[in-house]
Amino acid sequence: MTEPAESKGYFVRLLALFPLICLINFSSVEARTVYHKWEVKYEYKSPDCYKKLVITINGRSPGPTIFAQQGDTVFVELKNSLWTENVAVHWHGIRQLGTPWSDGAEGVTQCPILPGETFIYRFVVDRAGTYLYHGHYGMQRAAGLYGSIIVSLPEGVSEPFSYDYDQNIILNDWYHASTNEQAAGLSAIPFVFVGEPQVNSIKSKLISALICLELAIKCSTVPWAADGSAAGVCNTTNLECSPSSLTVVPGKTYRLRIGSLTSLSALTFEIEGHDMTVVEADGNYVEPFAIRNLYIYSGETYSVLVKADQESSRNYWATINVVARNPATPTGLAIFNYYPNHPQKQPPTAPATGPLWNDTASRLAQSLAFRARQGFINKPPVTADRVIVLLNTQNKIDGHFKWSLNNLSLILPQTPYLVALKENLTGAFAQDPPPDGYDFANYDIHSLAENVNATSSNRIYRLRFNSTVC
Ligand SMILES: *[C@@H]1O[C@H](CO)[C@@H](O)[C@H](O)[C@H]1NC(C)=O
Ligand SMILES: *[C@@H]1O[C@H](CO)[C@@H](O)[C@H](O)[C@H]1NC(C)=O
Ligand SMILES: *[C@@H]1O[C@H](CO)[C@@H](O)[C@H](O)[C@H]1NC(C)=O
Ligand SMILES: *[C@@H]1O[C@H](CO)[C@@H](O)[C@H](O)[C@H]1NC(C)=O
Ligand SMILES: *[C@@H]1O[C@H](CO)[C@@H](O)[C@H](O)[C@H]1NC(C)=O
Ligand SMILES: *[C@@H]1O[C@H](CO)[C@@H](O)[C@H](O)[C@H]1NC(C)=O
Repeated sequence: MTEPAESKGYFVRLLALFPLICLINFSSVEARTVYHKWEVKYEYKSPDCYKKLVITINGRSPGPTIFAQQGDTVFVELKNSLWTENVAVHWHGIRQLGTPWSDGAEGVTQCPILPGETFIYRFVVDRAGTYLYHGHYGMQRAAGLYGSIIVSLPEGVSEPFSYDYDQNIILNDWYHASTNEQAAGLSAIPFVFVGEPQVNSIKSKLISALICLELAIKCSTVPWAADGSAAGVCNTTNLECSPSSLTVVPGKTYRLRIGSLTSLSALTFEIEGHDMTVVEADGNYVEPFAIRNLYIYSGETYSVLVKADQESSRNYWATINVVARNPATPTGLAIFNYYPNHPQKQPPTAPATGPLWNDTASRLAQSLAFRARQGFINKPPVTADRVIVLLNTQNKIDGHFKWSLNNLSLILPQTPYLVALKENLTGAFAQDPPPDGYDFANYDIHSLAENVNATSSNRIYRLRFNSTVC
């Protein structure tokens, strides 16, 4: 399933594919090809002044942003230079119509890419919007392997809202322990929790210029020097850990594309003194609504519009705070910088601490405020051929803590599911289906038995082609 790294050969294959691409897209719109060549490596980085091994793509974490236009075919030629670890990258939100082999879920749709090997992902981005990509092998996402995918509308088609500039922001939580150390603890008996993350970060990139403005940590709360020692001061001469700035021109409207790839934290994002209008959620246009702070959970993306309409002689804080857990992580900070103030000029105010972490009512209110945008609604099916109810619980299996769905905890088969299904390999995974529901009669969410035993499983739900499942 892997391709040789030799790039000349690759271009020949790429050319050979062209007639096919043209045939598929025989409409007047000319589909383009977006080509990325990536090398995935471990490198020492100190994003918050604490030096540790980070997984990089072409020397960077987050990796390069993929910019494409709706209908384009994206090629990512990925070389695994991790020496002793496999790799796989998932394109989060991309539907992979006709290209399931490129979905990037190791053990599900592909064998992992072995150290030293190269694999070419190929997929069509069929919907404009804001998406993410991330490592899908072990805990590599949490080690820094992730980035953004921005899909623009075809030429001549405009968004149902207007703005002057686009900015791209990825929110993350960040641990100082290595992911191997975390994984060893999480799978140990007794269980060793990873704890709360050391920092929350706002990484932003100015889309048009492709400049990484670096991330935003409140320096004084990060008592680590570049060498990893506890120096008690932030190393402000280290450019890697200076706060990021989102530079705005007074009077202009910005579309902030915000994605979260946290391991543990649910977050709230806000910009001091500025209202935001939500216009996109996970690649779908939504009826615009105003918010003061955006709640965002891992794996989600939103676009919000924000107008630089405040007093322009000063800068403002952009902050992220943890919600849903009693936070033990400092506020993550970026500077909302009004041009021509200095991008690093500290706002005169204290950064926002966000709504109370346990204010569930306002989180629920945001979730309930989403409506699909009129004129962009695909008629939803009114009945389902099959209903599957999935209940997520934390259980014990042979003394280990495991998440499970309907009392089954996934263990990946030796052969990726997609390969086994295509080749009719019935011995590759258990053929009996998992339950379509759980023990409704005995399960009471208000009086939970603690960590009851569950079972490991590699069974799968098989869905009838073209059926509607709810
Ligand atoms: C601060 O960062 C600079 C640049 O990376 C480095 O040369 C210097 O040694 C660091 N100082 C400390 C105290 O870590
Ligand atoms: C929410 O948390 C705060 C501080 O952690 C606490 O004082 C308050 O009682 C909590 N409120 C509710 C409704 O649990
Ligand atoms: C749960 O599993 C443990 C260890 O595998 C076993 O000792 C225990 O009896 C099980 N408990 C129940 C209620 O089945
Ligand atoms: C798998 O089974 C299907 C249906 O029975 C058949 O059409 C297909 O050719 C088989 N594939 C292989 C690789 O044997
Ligand atoms: C899981 O299995 C346990 C033990 O058989 C049972 O008590 C529990 O109700 C099951 N949980 C669910 C959600 O079905
Ligand atoms: C899927 O089912 C719908 C009706 O339920 C039908 O109109 C459509 O042609 C089917 N599509 C395919 C690809 O079979």
